[in-house]
Amino acid sequence: MKKICVLISGGGSNLATIIQAIDSNNLPNTQIACVIADRDCQGKYHALNANIPFRLIERKLSPDLFSQALIRAIPKDCDLIVLAGFLSIIPPEIIRTFPKKIINLHPSLLPKFGGMNMYGMNVHRAVIEAKETESGASVHYVSDEVDKGEIIEQISVRVCANDTAQDLQKRLAPLEHQLLIRVINRLLFPAK
Ligand code: GRF
Repeated sequence: MKKICVLISGGGSNLATIIQAIDSNNLPNTQIACVIADRDCQGKYHALNANIPFRLIERKLSPDLFSQALIRAIPKDCDLIVLAGFLSIIPPEIIRTFPKKIINLHPSLLPKFGGMNMYGMNVHRAVIEAKETESGASVHYVSDEVDKGEIIEQISVRVCANDTAQDLQKRLAPLEHQLLIRVINRLLFPAK
């Protein structure tokens, strides 16, 4: 049985997708060992309703206390740590403790529209303002530099001329969910 830990900060649609994929056997032999949030957020109800262990580690803690609490909360035998809408920076000591085991889902075709303050609707607004005709989502390994880790897989989506940021976000969300489940499967169960 593979164990994953999911980190959230918001609505948790990607967490809900992982739970649903496990329940429908689209993520076989996998269990979510714990869900960790860095703030009180709606996404926690997906964990609580599924009886998945949930921890809130307040991001307002000092960086050291935040890091120590995070290290204590993440099971050492975790096969994969998935940042699904998680907005806090992962401390370097966590990255060192779990080398190439922490992945992040970002709502753009990195390296474009990544980095500090590039999250959620900020990304879609920037894509629209830049008059891009294509956008998408990326899953990458988490490194010390925000959104600059090795890209594992991407999925693209067209941007229509009159799109608002909300239109783009709505069109991209289901594709993000597909991408995330595909990558988790690929990393947990690499083809022989
Ligand atoms: C999504 O756009 C995802 O790409 C990004 O965080 C946003 C919200 O995710 N990582 P969720 O609905 O909280 O899972």
